[in-house]
Amino acid sequence: MRVLGLETTCDETAAAVVELGPDGGGRILSNEVFSQIAEHAAYGGVVPEIAARAHVEVLDRLVARALADAKVEMAEIDGIAAAAGPGLIGGVIVGLTTAKALALVAGKPLIAVNHLEAHALTARLTDGLAFPYLLLLASGGHTQLVAVRGVGDYVRLGTTIDDAIGEAFDKTAKMLGLPYPGGPEVERQAAHGNPDRFALPRPMIGRPKPDFSLSGLKTAVRLEAERIAPLSATDVADLCASFQAAIVDVVVDRTRAALRSFRDRAGHPTALVVAGGVAANQAIRRGLQRLATESGLKLVTPPAALCTDNGAMIAWAGLERLRLGLTDDLTAPARARWPL
Ligand code: KG4
Ligand code: ZN
Repeated sequence: MRVLGLETTCDETAAAVVELGPDGGGRILSNEVFSQIAEHAAYGGVVPEIAARAHVEVLDRLVARALADAKVEMAEIDGIAAAAGPGLIGGVIVGLTTAKALALVAGKPLIAVNHLEAHALTARLTDGLAFPYLLLLASGGHTQLVAVRGVGDYVRLGTTIDDAIGEAFDKTAKMLGLPYPGGPEVERQAAHGNPDRFALPRPMIGRPKPDFSLSGLKTAVRLEAERIAPLSATDVADLCASFQAAIVDVVVDRTRAALRSFRDRAGHPTALVVAGGVAANQAIRRGLQRLATESGLKLVTPPAALCTDNGAMIAWAGLERLRLGLTDDLTAPARARWPL
């Protein structure tokens, strides 16, 4: 069984072909990504209209390349999957409409995939993980702790009430005059900064419900920066290190709270999975590794290229749904909002 997957919900245009491996995991036959970061960098964030137009310009070519790289013809594909949301609606429409056209012309089933579900199922593609497991999804747009109990069976244990974790990194970076995307830049600065210099808040720590609130932390960084302005290179590094240390404490505490509520709702998890662009952060990974060890759990972090937005995760989620007979018809809507 082979599925072509399209991803266009944010600022990556992606197409991939994935097939079902003999062990029940997936085999990635091709995984094409075109990142629009350069197009948005001047604006310090993703501009929806620019993103939608860029998807239109490159998607057809990426689909052709994904099939060519996989060395398969359309006739050898069993289903066409596209992320139907949540995301920037212009981009979502581009990907979903393209998938509908391909499905109609080639006479293949369409699978309208929830982008968050695709992130949630990636650990099964890469590690053949069994249900149930706890997922921390942390990207520029999403911060969710989810009990993944089965395909289509997700319990959202907690989320952010304001900024996503990646967004907090990006906004903090922008405030400190660092380039977009801010996450990797803040991590680089933090590596040679003093994490104890600024006493920043750890919002929500200790609360039983595993929710996040990060806008206060971002504001605290701004107030410190204003207090000591003009900022030297050392000040910037120390602010980044203090901010990152606060985030790590919050992430570990909130994930620990999620593990507790997981056990009530889904039993014993097979693993702790962390996905999304923020999963690339080594300090956060180390914190979560400590938590996993303390909880007797395996920490699974899919490779960075599969943690950030990509086509293989959409193809894989499509494949998981297709083999359960969960296909969609051509009226499937594009959705800006689509909670798991
Ligand atoms: O999953 P992703 O590529 O795109 C979506 O947002 O869907 O995640 C991008 C986010 C950005 O906010 C970026 O700053 C953050 O992930 N990020 C990081 C790191 N690398 C990327 N945040 C912290 N540390 C990093 N090393
Ligand atoms: Zn994503």
